[in-house]
Amino acid sequence: MLNRLEEIKSKAIAELNSLADLRELEAWRISYLGRKGSLTQILRSLPELPLEERRVVGEAANKLKAFLEENLAEKRRRLKEAEEAKLLERAKVDVTLPGYPTPLGRLHPTTQILREVCSIFASMGFEVVEGPEVEWDYYNFEALNMPQDHPARDMWSTLWIDFETENGQRPMLLRPHTSPMQIRLMEQRKPPIRAIMPGKVYRYEATDATHESMFYQVEGLAVDKGITLANLKGTLYEFARRLFGRERRVRFRCDYFPFVEPGVEMAIDCFICGGKGCRVCGGEGWIEILGAGMVHPKVLERVNYDPQIYTGFAFGMGLERIPMLKYGIDDIRLFYHNDLRFLEQF
Ligand code: DAH
Repeated sequence: MLNRLEEIKSKAIAELNSLADLRELEAWRISYLGRKGSLTQILRSLPELPLEERRVVGEAANKLKAFLEENLAEKRRRLKEAEEAKLLERAKVDVTLPGYPTPLGRLHPTTQILREVCSIFASMGFEVVEGPEVEWDYYNFEALNMPQDHPARDMWSTLWIDFETENGQRPMLLRPHTSPMQIRLMEQRKPPIRAIMPGKVYRYEATDATHESMFYQVEGLAVDKGITLANLKGTLYEFARRLFGRERRVRFRCDYFPFVEPGVEMAIDCFICGGKGCRVCGGEGWIEILGAGMVHPKVLERVNYDPQIYTGFAFGMGLERIPMLKYGIDDIRLFYHNDLRFLEQF
């Protein structure tokens, strides 16, 4: 019996030393100290032994039991420590590793050009004013000298809001141009006025490379005593040269807009070919960039400005056309599709 205990002891210790984790340790405990474990079985069989042997074997077996339990506790402690260390190792952060670069945003090309345009006019004494994108018929047409049934309304026939007055008329629309802001501003102020009024405009369009149903315009207005067409030309000439290069030449030709008289269209000589004719200017040598004119006396009267005392000039231009020309962008629809492959180029 004592030999058997010695065997159990050396086998148990040898096994214990080679255990790798807590699960194996539990199996080890069961096989020696569990209810059917080999040591437990010896302890159970003690009563069957003759008295003298029982005393000797009993003492040795109990000592072995205490010894194994001690070793078990010690091993359990060490395995637990090792497992915790492994977990810590896995959770470790190397603070010396370089971080991931944060993708930096940038301004949309429309915002960039808008800021450039605003700063050019600001340096010439113009303030920047914004107004509503949902507009009344009155500001969009009526006050701009386009009464009901005026044929020029067709140019800006657009998206009407589903709202009817008592007599069945729909007086509200998404503004198709920024010109109504001229009226709003003049209603609120007394001359002198120098302002540009940028913003989104909407058109009912079958979209294509040069037509979008939403785009930006910048409206301009200057009203004071003694403003003439020369002021209009000088201001817009300076603007064109700052935006497209000092060597630019400009061309003014007659055009018709109901809210100005006379009305003009301004073109710049092509900054790609210098006027010889190329793909960008369509072989023309000139690129039209805006409409303008002297504010119509009827428009001034509408806001109670006396046209005998005050005169003014106004202009309006599409904003996206400028970067399209400058950077050779061939499709206006690219601006608002939010495709990063496009946007990241600016
Ligand atoms: N509102 C016009 C358009 O959308 C552009 C325009 C032309 C504005 C002449 C003006 C102007 O202020 O004087 O086509």
